[in-house]
Amino acid sequence: MTSLQGKTALVTGAGSGIGRAMALRLAADGAAVVCADVNEDGLAETAALAGAAGGTATARTLDVTDEAAFKAALEETARAHGRLDILMNNAGVAYKRWEPTQAVNLSGVYFGLVHACPLMAAQGGGAVVNTGSVAGLAGLVPVLIEHTDPRSVERMAAYVASKHGVVGLTKQFAVSFGRTGVRVNAVCPGFVETPMTDGMRSTDEGLAYMTDLTPMGRTARPEEIAAAAVFLASDEASFVTGVAMPVDGGYFAR
Ligand code: NAI
Repeated sequence: MTSLQGKTALVTGAGSGIGRAMALRLAADGAAVVCADVNEDGLAETAALAGAAGGTATARTLDVTDEAAFKAALEETARAHGRLDILMNNAGVAYKRWEPTQAVNLSGVYFGLVHACPLMAAQGGGAVVNTGSVAGLAGLVPVLIEHTDPRSVERMAAYVASKHGVVGLTKQFAVSFGRTGVRVNAVCPGFVETPMTDGMRSTDEGLAYMTDLTPMGRTARPEEIAAAAVFLASDEASFVTGVAMPVDGGYFAR
């Protein structure tokens, strides 16, 4: 456990999967957490669970593609809690067409960075963790999906491009804000047990696709991604910035 006592965090995509696990872990470690998502039901559930886990947790409806709303959420969080220490820029979509994919995965992450980093710099420091993907560091092996969905080439390209963009944003904002006390990193998960992969994990073929590509022979629990992200956001990672850290069960070791 890291001590995040006295820190304030905002998590996007907190209504489900990895974002929910991040919110719960941040709360358990003592942070006050603002849980943000477009999914109001999921959000309410996460905020209740996070509150029960320790820290102060509030739910805030937010569409990360709305720049003004994202900026307002960051500023209001900082005002309400005195400061904003951590942004988990995590909301994302997969298997969608080009425009909606870039809108959420790339513009949404950019809006978070462009408004959180100056705010954090003005208060003397902070940490942003973007959720990238193994698809942000290399192309995806297409075999399975290509057979079952003819639109998959376009959709995988959209996802891979968006996540490579997230890695680029991570590096540029880390460099630009390096001297301000603001650190910017990314976690790059392999295949994780969340609603995003429910479809693939529900068939033997889909599950085998994921586990065969993963030397550890299994998929990740969302908590395993959250643990790495919280480390990067914490003072334990005080000299770590600009990295895109695979949390991938060995996917990139082969
Ligand atoms: P998920 O589908 O369980 O959760 C994504 C959350 O983002 C949902 O609650 C959804 O409502 C929210 N969201 C979508 N569009 C939004 C918007 N415009 N504004 C605010 N919230 C929005 O998926 P999961 O797996 O938890 O994904 C989280 C992140 O992890 C994503 O960025 C995804 O690309 C990434 N990732 C997931 C992997 C996996 O295997 N599940 C692998 C690598 C990366």
